[in-house]
Amino acid sequence: MGRFSFNNLRIDATDVESSGQFARTIEAGLYPREELSRLPEGILEKYFEPGDNPENLRVIEKVRQRVKFQQHDLLSLHEIGQGYSVILCKNVLLHFQPPERIEVLRMFHRALAPGGFFATEQTQEMPRELDSSFQRVIPDGPLFRKLEGAQCAS
Ligand SMILES: C[S@@+](CC[C@H](N)C(=O)[O-])C[C@H]1O[C@@H](n2cnc3c(N)ncnc32)[C@H](O)[C@@H]1O
Repeated sequence: MGRFSFNNLRIDATDVESSGQFARTIEAGLYPREELSRLPEGILEKYFEPGDNPENLRVIEKVRQRVKFQQHDLLSLHEIGQGYSVILCKNVLLHFQPPERIEVLRMFHRALAPGGFFATEQTQEMPRELDSSFQRVIPDGPLFRKLEGAQCAS
């Protein structure tokens, strides 16, 4: 991402808990070194700096400035915005009942820009009901593209 595009980047981070672990991590931008060990080469050097102690690294200020945390209950089914290029929802949908999962995915579909991407954890399946709304992008990973013009009818 060039400098110009980067300046237009916005990352909305949400969780149902406004002061839970996730909110605190996002706010501080601190991550244990060992959890970052699987990042692709070059990313660590480019986007992280020394943290508050030798075990932690901190996301650089330039990126942290782009991240805004807000409390949001996915089960409200109200999207927090529109036109997202990417929605990443990891290890959350598994807590919901199958019909709730479908409705949350429909909400993500509404929030995505045409052709936008949805990514989730490896074990999450896309429900058959949404076959016409999302298309798997790669065979061996949970990355999906919003289908253009797909009707996400309830
Ligand atoms: C296992 S953690 C995953 C955190 C993070 N996504 C990750 O992969 O590291 C599950 C998170 O889902 C959040 N959560 C549970 N129910 C939710 C809901 N209805 N709306 C939004 N977030 C919810 C919890 O507060 C918790 O932070």
